[in-house]
Amino acid sequence: MKKTKILFVCLGNICRSPSAHTIFQHMINARGVQERYEIDSCGTIGVHAGERADARMRKHAEKRGYIITHRSRQFNPKLDFEKFDMIIAMDNRNVAALRSLTIIDSELAKITKMTNYCNIFKETEVPDPYYGGYEGFEYVLDLLEDACKGLLLKLEEV
Ligand code: 4NP
Repeated sequence: MKKTKILFVCLGNICRSPSAHTIFQHMINARGVQERYEIDSCGTIGVHAGERADARMRKHAEKRGYIITHRSRQFNPKLDFEKFDMIIAMDNRNVAALRSLTIIDSELAKITKMTNYCNIFKETEVPDPYYGGYEGFEYVLDLLEDACKGLLLKLEEV
């Protein structure tokens, strides 16, 4: 069976997208459907490449049972547009950065925004928590849990 390959994208790949990646992986594992998916995350900038996720993000995620082990990497237009079926960006800036790297329409069609999958929250972006306080990290996790559930519902039609 062909796997559905999903790439979560933010700016630095140390806060929002590695959390989305871990939460969605956690949800598909819990449902026993992990064989149907391949999940990854990356950033539109490469300044944190090779680093573990932000310690604050990891701490807040861990309190909810999510262990983030991913190391940051930058989006690779040549490889990632080809490999992934869905490329899900955290905010409008990330959507614009990804769009600017497209060459063909089929690449454009793969790009969506994470908040489009939310059912509870009405936000239009997952806000960057990097320069804020702890509430920002908790809010990111609330939004991502809502969006990941919505995404899984959509994909599994349950
Ligand atoms: P992320 O958060 O995009 O959710 O990983 C950020 C991480 C790093 C920076 C900005 C946002 N930075 O400017 O280095």
